[in-house]
Amino acid sequence: MSQTKPLYASFRSIGAYVPSKILSNTELEKMVDTTDEWIVKRTGIKERHIAAEDEYTSDMGTKAAELAISRAGLETEDIDLVLCATVTPDYFNMPSTACIISDKLGIKNVQAFDISAACSGFVYLLTVAKAFIESGMKKNVLIIGAEKFSTIVDYTDRSTCILFGDGAGAAVICATDNKEEAFVDVHASADGSYADFLVTPAPGAINPVSEKVIKEGLNFVRMKGNETFKLAVKTLTKDVKEILEKNEIHAENIPHFIPHQANYRIIKAVGDALNMREDQVVLTVHKYGNTSAASIPMAINDIYESGRLKKGELMLLDTFGGGLTWASALLPFAGENI
Ligand code: UT7
Repeated sequence: MSQTKPLYASFRSIGAYVPSKILSNTELEKMVDTTDEWIVKRTGIKERHIAAEDEYTSDMGTKAAELAISRAGLETEDIDLVLCATVTPDYFNMPSTACIISDKLGIKNVQAFDISAACSGFVYLLTVAKAFIESGMKKNVLIIGAEKFSTIVDYTDRSTCILFGDGAGAAVICATDNKEEAFVDVHASADGSYADFLVTPAPGAINPVSEKVIKEGLNFVRMKGNETFKLAVKTLTKDVKEILEKNEIHAENIPHFIPHQANYRIIKAVGDALNMREDQVVLTVHKYGNTSAASIPMAINDIYESGRLKKGELMLLDTFGGGLTWASALLPFAGENI
């Protein structure tokens, strides 16, 4: 009887899209009671990008996906699963943004669906893609993190409007029998008892669209910022230490630590706890702000396009977001350099 080789998931390519319009701290100073100095000191954010009025989550996701597919050396016909992570879908109920992106890419008759794990969405998708590939069900999985977060931000609330931006990132995860290219580990978790830390109360079954929703601004993101901050540092430090220990990898040997870009102080605290050098830590929060599910793939794309990310190099990802959800991943970049 012939022995079939085991299948592994490999991270074959990356792409991203950043909308052209920039919203600077100086502009925010004119909108709410804040200062550039406060925002930079407390978050590290200098500016964020905002999508055009007629530019939707699916448009940004499609542009990022086109890049990722071509950089994987594939055609759209080769993709056999399309997954999108977003909390700002084109439509809140149906159809899914993954279906709309598939259509815009010309991908027909292929399974497509969204997942909702807020800022952890992209790393959650790595776990889903891995499971589909290792089970032999799919070969080339397109994963997308895309957000038009500006649509759920209240630009009169200084505690949230300074943080978020729009954008998209995508990757193609392929089946391989080469263990060298395989994900080392992915881990995702959640604790719904902290659901009220980060929430958009409407629209949904609890708060369907009504005059009350509009009057009370229930359609905007609300965050217990300080509590979320403290829990993020604690949870991420523990989670990242665990994945490194489990896989017997020392933090100093990680060339690229790519954390969720929510706040420079969270990134610094986790990096310091791991004794990471500055050159290991990837930072984009100063120019994109927090783009939720798009933040990690946008950061990977940044180091790819600047030539910093080379084939075979190990990436350590960690993320934290609404739910609450968190996740981490250790994986080599298995793509070709441009
Ligand atoms: O991606 C999902 C996960 N999200 C996160 O990880 C975000 C986590 N949280 C954070 O990044 C931080 O908590 C914030 C940046 C949101 C806030 O920073 P903080 O150091 O936790 O500030 P704070 O909420 O404790 O507020 C301190 C003060 C308050 O004033 P009082 O009560 O001390 O007088 C706020 O009203 O800062 C005030 N404040 C501001 N001041 C100027 C809050 N926002 C602003 C602002 N400009 N934009």
